[in-house]
Amino acid sequence: MKNIKAIIFDAYGTLFDVNSAAEKCKDKIGDKWEGFANFWRTTQLEYTWLRSLMRRHKDFWQITEDSLDKSMKAFNIDTSLKNELLNLYRVLSPFKEVTETLKILKEKNFKLAILSNGTPSLLDELVKKNRLNNLFDNIFSIEEVGIYKPDSKVYDIPVKKYNIKKNQIIFLSSNTWDVSGAGNYGYKAIWVNRNNGIFDNLDYNVKKEIKNLSELISII
Ligand code: LAC
Repeated sequence: MKNIKAIIFDAYGTLFDVNSAAEKCKDKIGDKWEGFANFWRTTQLEYTWLRSLMRRHKDFWQITEDSLDKSMKAFNIDTSLKNELLNLYRVLSPFKEVTETLKILKEKNFKLAILSNGTPSLLDELVKKNRLNNLFDNIFSIEEVGIYKPDSKVYDIPVKKYNIKKNQIIFLSSNTWDVSGAGNYGYKAIWVNRNNGIFDNLDYNVKKEIKNLSELISII
């Protein structure tokens, strides 16, 4: 890919495993842990879209807690687990190839950044806890514009900050809707299809698909 100035990553689900919080409690939750984790994630995302449409912004941490409350009720999970789950969500584990891939990209002198729904402090804690803080040039949060992805104001943030063209950015996400949002906006959007999923019908034909981030090295 020619003339790329920056490589930008979605955070939740792309760099960090959103199911890892519930997985770490699977002895207490039981077999339903994975269904519960997926429901929590879906509800959390729905709240981001709905709050954006309603123009009633709440930050991602509050939304994570609100969606957890609903999900715990839906799956009949003892409320005593709530704080443990929230604390684990603050320190989600990265997928196994993430650190090594970022180091290789950094050596190639690309600008590396995160563009995420997370709050600045959540993202800061996540990258520090996982010792990734020295690898990123910037961590962009939607809190800067007060509306969630896939609003174009969000994808505008790095374009303005770096003063580059949309198509000089490679954007990676495992969330199909985020790839569609970023691709429709004008980034070179790549889908990290970790779980053999099906892409969305949202006016963007994904041009590149990889199974994990390490595959990025051979295509840039
Ligand atoms: C994020 C969500 C979309 O990190 O995963 O922005």
